[in-house]
Amino acid sequence: MIRDFKSLIGDLKSVVGEQWIVTEERAVERYLYDETAFGVRPEPVRDVVVVKPGSTEEVSEVLKIANKYKVSVHVRGGGTGLVGGAIPTKPGIVLSLERMDKVTIDVDNMVAEVEAGATLGKLIEEAEKHNLMFPAHPGDEGATVGGLVACNAGGSRAVKTGVVRNYVLGLEIVLPNGDILRLGGKTIKNNMGYNLAHLFIGSEGVLGVITKAYIRLYPKWRYTATIVVPFNSRVDAFRAAKKILFEGLTPLALEYFDRKVIETSANYLGTTWPVKEGEYYLMIILAEALEDVLYVEMEHIDNIVRSEGALEPFVTQRDDEQKSLLKIRSEIFSALKEETFDILDTTVPIGVVDRFIENVIDIEKRYGVWLPVYGHVGDGNVHVHVMKHKGFSKEQLEKIAEDVYDAALLLGGTITGEHGIGYIRRKYVKKVLGDAWIETVKKLKSVLDPNNILNPDKVLPGD
Ligand code: LAC
Ligand code: ZN
Repeated sequence: MIRDFKSLIGDLKSVVGEQWIVTEERAVERYLYDETAFGVRPEPVRDVVVVKPGSTEEVSEVLKIANKYKVSVHVRGGGTGLVGGAIPTKPGIVLSLERMDKVTIDVDNMVAEVEAGATLGKLIEEAEKHNLMFPAHPGDEGATVGGLVACNAGGSRAVKTGVVRNYVLGLEIVLPNGDILRLGGKTIKNNMGYNLAHLFIGSEGVLGVITKAYIRLYPKWRYTATIVVPFNSRVDAFRAAKKILFEGLTPLALEYFDRKVIETSANYLGTTWPVKEGEYYLMIILAEALEDVLYVEMEHIDNIVRSEGALEPFVTQRDDEQKSLLKIRSEIFSALKEETFDILDTTVPIGVVDRFIENVIDIEKRYGVWLPVYGHVGDGNVHVHVMKHKGFSKEQLEKIAEDVYDAALLLGGTITGEHGIGYIRRKYVKKVLGDAWIETVKKLKSVLDPNNILNPDKVLPGD
């Protein structure tokens, strides 16, 4: 039992101080889960001690101690992940970066220097004080910047902004042996040496602990509009989405959902979906620095969607209305979560999203189940919920997920666009990435982490 491991705990206390160690079972409980759907969520081990370092140097010392005792270290940010990445499955240390949450905005250089434990919400708020912004919006604002970088998070704005990787100018990383790696900084260009930062961005905490990031900021877009475009035909909706992209218009978000899905979310929030017409929707968010540009774009989009069979678009520039529409879209996952076996994160090339969704509908019919489909149609990343169904075993539900994965793979897609592999998707790594990938990452892992202490059971299969 780790909790009885007096000398390990004694060493940890001497590094971070007694008040930053949690061993009491009830207090430990809230460090054991993330947002992974219940059907596929692994059972956490309870035999862990939670350690909350206050600096990069302390993180380094904690990792040295973990090597000394050969215990696992499970790195924890906001616990908002959907693939079990933050769930400890081996006894050891939960390394929570919550105390390291400083955000310093360098206005002149438009860079945020952010400690890993700062939340996305705090980064947004601090940047806004200076009329700056972090353009990507990778989901839950309770996520921490360390987690966002470690998982290369995506989100609805990826169609225009790209993913978190695109904003990382520099990183501070503690390697599993405790060495501190400082990469990049505040410059936009930096060709000094191999860009090792990108090895760690998206590594899901398996290769090192990110303790600080330099994030590129931009001046805030001052003018925004949200357009909800209803359609009676799904085919028309996808044709319109494609046409918007092919006309060279790049909305901040270009989302798809159907009436049943969006009304489920509105009901869950105790509100109503304001658009009465249509069965299928595109939700288009526009954001520009200049008002004239915004209006020209709105007009173009209006012409395009009408020419593709749209019903009357619902257009708003009011902040409160835009927020409320986005909230209903953003809470689809929460609204469905209780009845969800697993939420899939399939991604296909943008030109075949329509074919992919048709294939998902075929699978839905074949099994006689409901597979809610929605998501980031503008970048090809479409979420499919495998819902729990009476009389369906875990194996049958997994088979449905595999059929959806196969549909994405056949179209040149992949099985995760933004949520990552974590614990739950490791069994598909061999099929999607192949043996050579696994062997290469295993070699990297054994060089950087010979005792395999950091985030075991994550990313690599059979770890
Ligand atoms: C979304 C999350 C689940 O797109 O990725 O709502
Ligand atoms: Zn998403």
